[in-house]
Amino acid sequence: MAPLERIAELRRELHAHNRRYYVTDNPTVSDAEFDRLLRELQVLEQQHPEVFDPNSPTQRVGGGLTKIFEQVAHRRPMLSLANTYSFDELDEFVRRAQELASNSELEWSAELKFDGVAISLWYEEGKLVRALTRGDGVQGDDVVVNVRTIPEVPLYLPEDAPSDLEVRGEIVFLNDAFERLNARRRAAGLEEFANPRNAASGTLKMQDSAEVALRRLSMFTYAAYSDQRPFASHSGALDALAAWGFPVPPREPRWSQCCANADELKDFLAYWDAQRQQLPVATDGAVLKVDRVDEQQRLGFTAKAPRWAIAYKFNAEQACTPLIDVRYQVGRTGAVTPVAVLEPVWLSGTQVQRASVHNADQIAKLDLHLGDWVWVEKGGEIIPKITAVDRARRPANAPQVIFAAQCPDCGTPLERSEGEAQHFCPNCSACPPQIKGRIEHFIHRRAMDVDGIGVETVDRLVDLGWVRTPADLYDLGASGWSRLDKFKEKSVANALASLDASRSIPYERVLFALGIRHVGETVAKKIAKAVPHMDLLAQATTEELTAVPDVGPQIAESIAGWMAQPENQRELARLKAQGLQMERAAAPEGASTVLEGKTFVVSGVFAHFSRDGIKDAVEQHGGRIASSVSSKTHFLLAGEGVGPSKRAKAEALGVHWLTEEEFRAWIGSTD
Ligand code: IVH
Repeated sequence: MAPLERIAELRRELHAHNRRYYVTDNPTVSDAEFDRLLRELQVLEQQHPEVFDPNSPTQRVGGGLTKIFEQVAHRRPMLSLANTYSFDELDEFVRRAQELASNSELEWSAELKFDGVAISLWYEEGKLVRALTRGDGVQGDDVVVNVRTIPEVPLYLPEDAPSDLEVRGEIVFLNDAFERLNARRRAAGLEEFANPRNAASGTLKMQDSAEVALRRLSMFTYAAYSDQRPFASHSGALDALAAWGFPVPPREPRWSQCCANADELKDFLAYWDAQRQQLPVATDGAVLKVDRVDEQQRLGFTAKAPRWAIAYKFNAEQACTPLIDVRYQVGRTGAVTPVAVLEPVWLSGTQVQRASVHNADQIAKLDLHLGDWVWVEKGGEIIPKITAVDRARRPANAPQVIFAAQCPDCGTPLERSEGEAQHFCPNCSACPPQIKGRIEHFIHRRAMDVDGIGVETVDRLVDLGWVRTPADLYDLGASGWSRLDKFKEKSVANALASLDASRSIPYERVLFALGIRHVGETVAKKIAKAVPHMDLLAQATTEELTAVPDVGPQIAESIAGWMAQPENQRELARLKAQGLQMERAAAPEGASTVLEGKTFVVSGVFAHFSRDGIKDAVEQHGGRIASSVSSKTHFLLAGEGVGPSKRAKAEALGVHWLTEEEFRAWIGSTD
């Protein structure tokens, strides 16, 4: 056989083997035979560079470096999907689609929603020519050199495929490939990726495709388009893709399913809500689509998303995993929080290895033993919590967890006051995490907003013994900052400028920044209003303080106690000398009282305000902010993407829904 013919034959054969190995999981040759064929092809290609082909199976290992990816306009915009978390909303979505459609009974297609990076593959004349990321939805980056290394992605298509095929799908890391990648990074002392999605997106944009090949991305395809031979249905498109060798979510096991109605869709969702932990890949829900393309076209699109498809997101999930250890964290107030160290486990798309256990009572209540299999659950917080222990799986002789007697950082015996759940380290002035915590709190964005100093810098300054209180930061001065190792001229300038800017931060935030126990942002505002000068506050008795609205004895005692400490008095005097605001300024321009007596809950994203900004605006006009919807809430101030639980609660309680525009008109009306 002529060498060029043999090259073509080997390429065809190797592609078919590749597909059988990676996509349909029925290899017909041994790995050794595959390698032999691949080497034969490599040799022939070296001898015949005139037939170089970027889509040859030999190119899967990557190689070339790409400086910048070409930006290319999408043939069809890449949109996102509307989300829902509730079956009620799903029913409503199905009902509306049914109403708008002409067909008497819509058919549906349900499939897993893969949590990765969207990609659009272009095939021309049966060859992969481009792979575009979503970018801004209108144009994306062509990362085809990296996508070619993904073994599931066909580089050539069979002859019966249309010559203008566009295939969309999700590039992901399978859990085991992700773990291997992170293990490699750990061993190399590199930072690990937080989750498979971040890893996939970082990997896809790498300049070295050989490294991409090594990391082993995967892909699942979920849509196809062709102008020449349009598809009549979504399920038909997926079947065709499967026949052409694409990795589509299979019907068996049930990764995708045709459904006749909302009940069948919900059955699919309920199944995966319970089973998704067993999947080898991260999913964040399922996508439900109207199956027939003519019906899809009839339903059309909103500005952002199709009206014929919706993403159903699963709620917080639980997992069971062994407890390895309990460690203790000391906060800025000296409060000691136990943290459970767990055997890593997958939970809502992230790997979890720590969970909070609140306090000693919680440890006793759960009757925690080291080695116990514990149930962890993600609530609203980032750190999951332990909700239960599987007693039946407790190993023999497992030692009981006994709460620490001494501070893990400074060794001081811990204290616990009568009636309090928390243990405290009483060594306020010298315990390092307390010192660091107080300073970090002081410079925080919501407090003094000293953004020119980072947490690592605070750690270094405290470890060096140069800084023990916030006033020390100001006293360091240019000469002090420049003595700090690796702190260049620009960093010094940034630190000094942001400290300088903090001198005009209002009194109420200075009060909050001091970190007095029980004086959060809201309490600080109330106190600043009632006691508008720091000197007055320093002399206020607990009786006077409890007269302030919403200030009870606990807060009053905490403030009076703090003010009575000579070192705190000295600190206040030093901060005052540095020019910090120690009294309340006149009301800001444009303020009013139009919202007085009204309570607002803010949710979603706003066009004209940041989340904090809109809360400030409510307060500037006399309104009150609450964090959760209750019968006392007057308005749900709703932006884009209101949280589902807030929305449901507001509806149940009949709380008024206020849009951003209505709100702006309301406060604007007093200008
Ligand atoms: S269909 C018009 N199906 O989710 C959009 N998307 O939130 C049609 N995704 O951009 C998308 N798995 O990146 C579809 N089975 C699936 C999916 C899926 C993951 C991603 C995709 C999309 C995003 C929308």
